[in-house]
Amino acid sequence: MPDGLMKARLTAIRYAAHETNLYEFRRLDGGRWPSATPGAHIDLHLPNGMMRQYSLVHAGDAPEVYVVGVKRDRTSRGGSKFMHEQLRVGEELDIGGPRNNFPLNETATNSILFAGGIGITPIMCMIERLETLGRSWKLYYSCRSRAETAFLRELRDMAGDRVVFNFDEENGGKFLDLGAIAASAPVGAHLYCCGPTPMLKAFEAATASLPRDRVHIEYFTAAEAAATEGGFVVELRRSKREIAVPPGKSILEMLREAGVEVTTSCEEGVCGACETTVISGTPDHRDMILTASERAASKTMMICCSGSKSERLVLDL
Ligand code: FES
Repeated sequence: MPDGLMKARLTAIRYAAHETNLYEFRRLDGGRWPSATPGAHIDLHLPNGMMRQYSLVHAGDAPEVYVVGVKRDRTSRGGSKFMHEQLRVGEELDIGGPRNNFPLNETATNSILFAGGIGITPIMCMIERLETLGRSWKLYYSCRSRAETAFLRELRDMAGDRVVFNFDEENGGKFLDLGAIAASAPVGAHLYCCGPTPMLKAFEAATASLPRDRVHIEYFTAAEAAATEGGFVVELRRSKREIAVPPGKSILEMLREAGVEVTTSCEEGVCGACETTVISGTPDHRDMILTASERAASKTMMICCSGSKSERLVLDL
């Protein structure tokens, strides 16, 4: 088993909404899971050989269970399809993580949360924490229909008018006006969004004028292609090796060809598993994790998808 993976058993599957289930995992050795913060996700290494990342519904110190929400994606390449059709309670699998690329700012006096569909899972986790802290929050939650809305009753019971639901089918296909909502956010509020790509794009546009440290987005798919322009050399400072990356190849491909072992998970720049310290050189960042200021500082890079703008890139590997 690769480093960092833990043996788990699926101990419950609960219905959450139409074609959306909650999956509960416990450690096989009876121990407790590593602590997780709101917005964290885990890697599920499925018995069909696939690996998928899913956000945790609950955070906490040394939790007994990890729970993830999975919506069956009709275009699924096998992850959600397998989980809905074949994964059964009692099965064993490996879990990696947790990692958090979508952390909650717990000191913000106001948090404005946007969720689309199953993007509600990390947002629920944040709401749970914000409630514990007694912080002010508001949720805008968009789904196709009530039947497809996970946590509908819980949110209604708990939150009252702090949740604005938007059901596309009931609204003549009208989407939330993210621009208007962002423009009217209280001064200093932090804004979060997790949902389908069109919603994330609309959120990015709606918050473009806000300070970047107050805008938080969770991506689950890559928006940019991996860098394969090549034409540079990667120096691995610790292992004292040099590896040429030719056009048409990514850094990750060349490292693997050279027999260099690197930790990866999503391999498309959305999970953070391959984050590597940059000693010198100018990375060509293609990931969805680093903020604009982190990209500019270039202290680290995601080697699964990013390349180099300089002829030489020196990495702490
Ligand atoms: Fe997920 Fe690189 S392996 S970001």
